Amino acid sequence: MTFPKNFLWGGATAANQCEGAYDVDGRGLARTDITTAGSLNQRRQVTYEFPDGTTGKGDKVPKNAHGAVLPGEYYPNQVGIDFYHHYQEDIKLFAEMGFKTFRMSISWSRLFPNGDEEKPNQAGLDFYRRVFEELRKYQIEPLVTIWHFDTPLYLEEHYDGWNNRKVIDFFVKFATTVFKEYKGLVKYWLTFNEINNTIQFLDMFGDSATEKDYQDAYQQLHYQFVASARAVKIGHEIDPENQIGCMICGIANYPLTSDPKDIMLNRHVWEKNIFYCGDVQCKGEYPTFAKRLWDEHDLALDITQVDLADLKAGTVDLYTFSYYMSNVVSTHNDPDAEKVSGNFVMGLKNPYLKYSEWQWADDPLGLQYYLEVVNDRYHLPLMVVENGLGAIDKVEADGKIHDPYRIDYFRGHIAAMGAAIDNGVDLIGYTPWGCIDLVSAGTGQMSKRYGMIYVDLDDEGHGTMKRSKKDSFDWYQKVIASNGTDL
Ligand code: BG6
Repeated sequence: MTFPKNFLWGGATAANQCEGAYDVDGRGLARTDITTAGSLNQRRQVTYEFPDGTTGKGDKVPKNAHGAVLPGEYYPNQVGIDFYHHYQEDIKLFAEMGFKTFRMSISWSRLFPNGDEEKPNQAGLDFYRRVFEELRKYQIEPLVTIWHFDTPLYLEEHYDGWNNRKVIDFFVKFATTVFKEYKGLVKYWLTFNEINNTIQFLDMFGDSATEKDYQDAYQQLHYQFVASARAVKIGHEIDPENQIGCMICGIANYPLTSDPKDIMLNRHVWEKNIFYCGDVQCKGEYPTFAKRLWDEHDLALDITQVDLADLKAGTVDLYTFSYYMSNVVSTHNDPDAEKVSGNFVMGLKNPYLKYSEWQWADDPLGLQYYLEVVNDRYHLPLMVVENGLGAIDKVEADGKIHDPYRIDYFRGHIAAMGAAIDNGVDLIGYTPWGCIDLVSAGTGQMSKRYGMIYVDLDDEGHGTMKRSKKDSFDWYQKVIASNGTDL
């Protein structure tokens, strides 16, 4: 098992889940700032208020309502782990682990508080410059996601968010600003985090999706594809050194049985959930099966000739993805097939795998499988930019945190990456998720911890924010030092 000499070992975070400082230095509100805290296996919801004063919670802010902060409710993303004020200390710890790269995102509303301003907020620009310079001090290569779920709230309320074609221009302006501003400091960029979630989640959360939800989701996605492609093209013009990637939520799907109907269903799930987005972003055009997906829901999409030309001109340089688990699908309504009750994937339970406390399947071989599939399909350098185990950690009386379960998880997945590399896969980097504990995107919990660095903060926001090393910190340090040979 030989990892390439310059393999980019590191860790991954996102602004909305770690920065906090939601109202500092001119930052505007993001959608994630009004998303509530959650409890075990419960998705978080945005909060809203109608002009008559009635309030509510839901998946989206309804028409005529605006995002609200309700009394007595806790909004964990507003606090994050206060990376905004702790970034020097945190980066020092990443450097101590031996990171070669660090994945982070830029908060759109920190640079453009409403999203539609002419000029960016200087204090926001200065913050990220300080962070990138700090990373460079330790020879850590920044890997920067431009959009990680945190569209400015103002754009959601006043423009109907990604349902509106105009938002493409606002995003392109945001992307152009960061490419220009950080030229020479940042080379690796990702346009949209887990872009495929928009359609993938429609089926995962049960039968509640309406035909309008499908229409909206495919339309939003098209606008994001165009926004991404235009940004890629501009990013290359501003600095030909830029390496810009797509980022797909990578789930390895398996058929439950050998019934050809299950095999075909599984193929179609891969097409819809995984290949639809990857094909557009890597190949610059919609795949042939797109028509089938659109016809299934009788969609009428606003797609122009200019859009199609832009998709062609803005293909990505890298294919990156998150990988946490595999999933099982079937056409059989088998009463013996147990359903997974996790907060994410409503698939069938795989009897051959272990499941996390949040019911995510631990499947390293699924990662090797996924890597080999996308390597052959796209022939682009690959990065696994999220992977990890969300678990409850215990701080011992002596302050130590023993997390052998996390080490086991990483060991299996790193070995799987090594096996894929041995099979010829062009994998260039690995940034495990939440290398430092942060707020869960799905549940809002701090107690769903992914980090090698523990942060003293609980689900209600109590704690000192003190950082401490878990056992996995020393273990990962050794893995990086040995370039993946000492697992
Ligand atoms: C990915 C997201 O879906 O999974 C991250 O890109 C997220 O933002 C991660 O945090 C893990 O999910 P969760 O719900 O456990 O935080």
